[in-house]
Amino acid sequence: MTKRPSGRESAQPALAGPSYLPRMAAVVRLPSPVLVVLAGPSGSGKTTWAEANFEPGQIVSTDRLRLLVGEGEHDQRASKDAFALLDQVLVARTRRRLTTVLDTLGYDEELRQRCRYLAAESGMTCVAIAFDTSPSECRARNRSRDRRVPDHVLTGQLRQWVELREALPTEGFDAIHPPGRVELVPAEFASSATGQDRKPNALAFGLQVNTFAWPGGPTETASRLAAIARTAEDNGFRSLWVMDHTRQIPQVGPAWEDLLECFTTLGFLAAATDRIRLGPLVAGITYRNVAQLGKMVATLDVLSKGRVTCGLGLGWFEQEHRAYGWRFP
Ligand code: UTP
Ligand code: MG
Repeated sequence: MTKRPSGRESAQPALAGPSYLPRMAAVVRLPSPVLVVLAGPSGSGKTTWAEANFEPGQIVSTDRLRLLVGEGEHDQRASKDAFALLDQVLVARTRRRLTTVLDTLGYDEELRQRCRYLAAESGMTCVAIAFDTSPSECRARNRSRDRRVPDHVLTGQLRQWVELREALPTEGFDAIHPPGRVELVPAEFASSATGQDRKPNALAFGLQVNTFAWPGGPTETASRLAAIARTAEDNGFRSLWVMDHTRQIPQVGPAWEDLLECFTTLGFLAAATDRIRLGPLVAGITYRNVAQLGKMVATLDVLSKGRVTCGLGLGWFEQEHRAYGWRFP
């Protein structure tokens, strides 16, 4: 005798989707090009979704291939030829890196694996779209179709789907999405965790030293500054920055606070460190002739063995300009 489900279990919808499949997805962002593998039972809406989101030439379906090599979309005797053709189409399209949607039931494990392999060979992303439509909806849609899938076949598909939707996320697709509206974005701009997996863009930290008003005053400034720079370098900071200002800015301290000149300080820091990148944050474009700024940055870059990044700013500190006799356009 089978165990009757407890009250709590039976309160769950029969086919409640697993937690990793968001039920609603307004927008599905996919990198272009992409190989999209559809999966879901008959009547779950695969073809409807594909046609609403992709060009007809991008959709490859076994039904349409059966129409080409057999007597019609549902000529099962033509299936073998249709699948052979399907493989040829997939090979040709992925080799050309063309966005392709594979519209089959998605129940063939070997075919899913083949898709991931072909996509990877061509450096394409391969995603699966899981059509987790409720069984009652699939049955209702099937009933209103001109050509119905026999009830027992659909029942089998619905049963199999419960297993397949659990298996999909373990198979190595770059992502599994619910069927939302598709937005294709160039692969370089598609922000996806999977891209981050393949080529991590690590978070880097820079240290900006924007005050020199330290205990001990000017006689200790050089040793303290060198110690800060070396400590930052030794502890993994990627870069070290000083402001290009000639008097302290009001956001940091009073105008009479001691402040070192930017580029001479960077020269000192280049000698005091070995690996950390250095730069002005940022060089005011109004302070000096731009060619002269270029010469200074190039000199600093040579002496620091290629460690300089030069930030440029429009300049905003009017009082500083007046005090130093610079034009403030
Ligand atoms: P599809 O023909 O899109 O289903 O929709 P499918 O998943 O591709 O099915 P198979 O595997 O090829 O058999 C089935 C029916 O449901 C309607 C469609 O118009 C079609 O008649 N449908 C689909 C809706 O009414 N609403 C939807 O959101 C999607
Ligand atoms: Mg279909």
